[in-house]
Amino acid sequence: MREVIYLDKPSFTEAIKRNQTNINTIHYNNETFLTNLKNNLKISERLAKNNTFYIKTHGCQANIRDEETINGLLTSLSLKRVENIEEASIIIINTCSVRENANNKVYAEIGNIKRLKEKNKDLVLILCGCMVETKDTLANLINKYPYIDIIFGTHNIDSLLNLLYLYMDSDNKKRIVDVSSKEGEIIEDLPATRNNKYSAYVNITFGCDKFCTYCIVPQTRGKERSRDKEDILKECKLLLAEGYKEIILLGQNVDSYGKDLKDQNITFASLLDAVASLPIKRVRFLTSYPSEFSDEVIEVIAKHDNIMKYIHLPVQSGSNSVLKRMARRYTKEEYIALVERIKARIPNVALSTDIIVGFPNESEEEFLDTLDLVRKVKYASAFTFIYSPREGTAAAKLKDKINDETKVARFKRLTDALEEYYPIYNESFINTIQEVLVTSVSKKDKNKVSGVMFNNKIVNFNADPSLIGEIVKVKILEDKLYSFNGELIK
Ligand code: SAH
Ligand code: SF4
Ligand code: F3S
Repeated sequence: MREVIYLDKPSFTEAIKRNQTNINTIHYNNETFLTNLKNNLKISERLAKNNTFYIKTHGCQANIRDEETINGLLTSLSLKRVENIEEASIIIINTCSVRENANNKVYAEIGNIKRLKEKNKDLVLILCGCMVETKDTLANLINKYPYIDIIFGTHNIDSLLNLLYLYMDSDNKKRIVDVSSKEGEIIEDLPATRNNKYSAYVNITFGCDKFCTYCIVPQTRGKERSRDKEDILKECKLLLAEGYKEIILLGQNVDSYGKDLKDQNITFASLLDAVASLPIKRVRFLTSYPSEFSDEVIEVIAKHDNIMKYIHLPVQSGSNSVLKRMARRYTKEEYIALVERIKARIPNVALSTDIIVGFPNESEEEFLDTLDLVRKVKYASAFTFIYSPREGTAAAKLKDKINDETKVARFKRLTDALEEYYPIYNESFINTIQEVLVTSVSKKDKNKVSGVMFNNKIVNFNADPSLIGEIVKVKILEDKLYSFNGELIK
């Protein structure tokens, strides 16, 4: 077995600590690395051999934004990103661990890479993201996949170039692991190569302090940290100058933004107001936490035309007893009252949600409460999941009497309940003219493009791919339940 050098190892107790009062902001510069590189011909030669990289990202928007940083760091070394894994000399798998099937996808992927490693002994395989943050999973990855070369955690992205340097520098190619569990700091000025030129994710908070009992994220991402408002606005202004049409503010719980900052007048409402006051065409934000969603935020959304009238408001369950077991900090009634306040102030709002079925010992009555809530709220869209126990979370210790068949059947019943309202909602758009941000060539029909309406619904229509990145007017013609067909208005 190749030797493994541990620069840092994950620790469960460190990962769940929440004692830090001051958040340290560090300004990154990669000059040291670049100077070392220039002085070290051997490494330059090795990097010349390894000058293409491929990144595959799993998971949520936080991971997609991290991919852009990884891309930016490697691009700063003049390495070239390739879309075909076979052409890559460095492969990076950016993993997610939110449910077991996310882990399984990664295991299958690494299994397939073995063949490439056998063909090319210089190929470098790097793993990062949330999956490497838990001790047992990390140990499993190291033991079962001896051909993984470098592993780094969500807190160690800024070390990537140094890790690559260390790895390239060792003649016998020792394996390198750098996974820190810590409350975390904020690192500004990391380079980023964005995935597109029209819609950009902007982090506003990192980490999460909610510790919902089913969720691994507080462990993998550390303490909730708010970026300085000025740093966020600086990034938004740069994006605007580069011609971006849409900014999506990101946080596991955007409503907590500012609570850890010295200036207590900075809230998510004031930040959102400041961002939407910039001349940017579209502003979105993800994700909202029901009991912290303030009336001020509702007012700011109502006030700005450029804030999309789409709110992703995860409810997780409609049962008060399940919500309590999940440690969600609201009741069904409070959630519905919030929805009513939002709808009263923003009549055309589209609501979406996340729902988990099969939380340990969810009874039939508890599940029926979720169906009842879904019918009352009338969601425009939703993401639904079957509960998956995660190592180290409180819920993973619960004994569960509910069998898998019941869970699968409930999942189907929940989808059916959600789909009762979708056609009614969608129908209201037929023959209307909507603004659509064109995002890609349609997956199903190469002659069409796909775009996104204000409510996050996809519209497919005939148009030239040169319109990608533009906001165009489209007449909505046909409801396909999870998308629309439309016609470009010239
Ligand atoms: N911070 C966001 C999203 C976190 S993860 C929020 O609080 O809403 C995205 C979604 O994955 C969650 O909303 C939840 O519905 C789902 N999820 C998280 N952990 C899960 C688990 N162990 N099993 C099944 N679904 C889970
Ligand atoms: Fe997970 Fe809850 Fe935090 Fe969302 S709020 S990331 S579900 S712990
Ligand atoms: Fe997955 Fe980590 Fe996001 S677990 S959902 S990539 S925060």
